[in-house]
Amino acid sequence: MLGFRPKGKTKGHRPNYGHHRIREFPQEKDKSVRQTRFENHTLAEFIENLRRRSASGAWQELLERYDAPRSFPDLANFRLGPNPFGLTALDWIVFRKEGGRASSLVAHGITTRIRWSGESTDLPRGWTGAVRQSYENSVLGDESPNTLIGLFIFAETAFREHGWAAEVAEAMKELAREEGMHSLIIPLRLPTRYEWQNARLPYAEFALRKRDDGEFADHWLRMHTRLGARVIGTCDVSHQHAFHSDDLPLLFECDPIERTGSYIVRSHGEHYAAYVDLERECAVINEGCVWVRYHL
Ligand SMILES: CC(C)(COP(=O)(O)OP(=O)(O)OC[C@H]1O[C@@H](n2cnc3c(N)ncnc32)[C@H](O)[C@@H]1OP(=O)(O)O)[C@@H](O)C(=O)NCCC(=O)NCCS
Repeated sequence: MLGFRPKGKTKGHRPNYGHHRIREFPQEKDKSVRQTRFENHTLAEFIENLRRRSASGAWQELLERYDAPRSFPDLANFRLGPNPFGLTALDWIVFRKEGGRASSLVAHGITTRIRWSGESTDLPRGWTGAVRQSYENSVLGDESPNTLIGLFIFAETAFREHGWAAEVAEAMKELAREEGMHSLIIPLRLPTRYEWQNARLPYAEFALRKRDDGEFADHWLRMHTRLGARVIGTCDVSHQHAFHSDDLPLLFECDPIERTGSYIVRSHGEHYAAYVDLERECAVINEGCVWVRYHL
C-alpha cells in the first residue's frame, strides 16, 4: 500500500482485535523456560500487568525497559509521521527462565494485526505503516484482521545465538494459526544494515545480498527464510526520522556538517545514512525493511 486511505474519526474506545487474555506455555526446548502471551494488550495494559507481577526477575526487567523515563531529546522525538505504537492493540510474547527465587528474561517479541489482501503491492509502508494500519483498524473496528505482523523480536545478550529468536518467531506463527490468520508477515530491520560499510549503500542493493552458499548474507533474514518465510518485498522508509540540521549532531556522532548532502552518522554503535539539506535547514534518515511472509 503506497498511500493511506482517510479513515475518519476514531470512536475513542480501547483498541480491540481479538481475545483479551494472558496464557502460559511450557517450552519444549528447555523445560525451565516458560512462555507468557499477553494477547490484545496495549502498552499501558501490558505495563499495568508488569507492575502487578514485578517484585523482581524478568517482569522487573521488562518494566524497567517499557516504563522507563526517556532521556530528552531522543530519536523517538524525531519520528516523521504518526507512531501510534503506544495506543494500538498488541500481543506481547515473553520467554523467561525460572531459577531460584527470580526468573530471568530470555527473549520477547511483539505482534499486531491488520487486514491484508495477501498482495505484495498492498503491504503497509514498512513498520510505521503496519502500526498505523493496526491502530486505524482496531480503533475504528470496521475490519476484522486476517494477518499477524511481527513488530519486534529481542533476545537478551546472555541468551543470544542459542535459537531463542527462532522460538519467538515460532510462537508468533502459532498465535497466528490459532487466531485464524492467513499469514504472519514481518518488516525485518536487518541488523547488518547498521554496519559502516552497509549503511552507505542504496537499500535495495544491500538488503538481499547472498553468500556464496546461496543463503542471505544478513543473519536475521537468513534465520527467517530458514524457518520457512519468503521475501515478499522491501520498503525504503519503514522508519523515517526528521530533524533540524542543528539537532543531528545532538543525537549522533557525525562529521561537521558544512554542505548539503549525505552523511554517515553513528549512534550506539550503529551507522545510519542521513541526508542534510542546509538550504531548508533539515535532515532526514530513512530506515528500510525487508518484508517476509510466513504463509500459514
Ligand atoms: C537479532 C536477534 C533477535 C537474534 O537473536 P538470537 O536468539 O541470537 O538468534 P538465533 O540464535 O535464533 O540465531 C539466528 C541466526 O543469526 C545468527 N546470529 C545471531 N546473532 C548474530 C550476530 N550478532 N552476528 C552474526 N550472526 C548472528 C546465528 O548464528 C544464527 O545464524 P545461523 O542460522 O546461520 O546459525 C538478537 O541478536 C537481538 O535481539 N538483537 C537486537 C534486537 C534486534 O536487532 N532485533 C531484530 C530486529 S526487530
